[in-house]
Amino acid sequence: MKKLLMANWKMNPKTEKEAIRLAKASDAANVVVYPPFPFLPAVAKALKKATLGAQDLFWEAETGPYTGEVSARELKSVGVEYVIIGHSSRRALGEKDEVIAKKVQAALSVGLVPILCVGEVLEEREAGRAQEVVDKQLRTVLSQLPLVAHGQLFVAYEPVWAISTTPHSSGLQSLSAEEAPAKSVELIRYMQHMVSTIQMETKFLYGGSVNLKNVQEVFGYDEIDGALVGGASLKAAEFGKMIKEVST
Ligand code: PGA
Repeated sequence: MKKLLMANWKMNPKTEKEAIRLAKASDAANVVVYPPFPFLPAVAKALKKATLGAQDLFWEAETGPYTGEVSARELKSVGVEYVIIGHSSRRALGEKDEVIAKKVQAALSVGLVPILCVGEVLEEREAGRAQEVVDKQLRTVLSQLPLVAHGQLFVAYEPVWAISTTPHSSGLQSLSAEEAPAKSVELIRYMQHMVSTIQMETKFLYGGSVNLKNVQEVFGYDEIDGALVGGASLKAAEFGKMIKEVST
């Protein structure tokens, strides 16, 4: 399977028209585009080669009295194939591992591929607890799952301190996002081993300030099957060049 470039648009852009324009500029076979919910049908129509993803879902997979929620089945019916679950911006709003586990199960139950996001915050990394934090995040979810086969589940390791939009209490940081991909490989290897000891097979993505400058580096690591890109995926020209970089 080819390595994937995943475009997490977060709560952008402002209008459907802009979303269609951005989708057309991001349309390549190894790309997955994650627009906000309202733009899913229009983006689905605009994409000819890329695959459609959603940024979240509710843990009840079918239907029900859950005002404001969106189900896995509903997403599937508008052409969604991948879904991001447990992104650090949702965890920051209070989403816990147990809820994340239920959402991953809901996705798998209808055949959506979950992108399970894990990653430590700066304080945890500085305290030497990154491995422990990520281990717990991953183990809680995997312990509740039926056996998953290769390609059915992606784990996106996103050190929260390397995400371009993470607010930091002080402007000073002991670690920079540039160092993050190299620092991540060891942790991804650890997770690969952990996952294999419980007979699971997952793919691993890296996320956190991936851009035109470092995309080749990220794609160069054998341990990494692709990248989850936020900020740079909103810049049509830059993202277009990133697609070219990883396709050659
Ligand atoms: P970033 O976001 O590329 O802007 O750091 C990545 C993410 O939050 O998924």
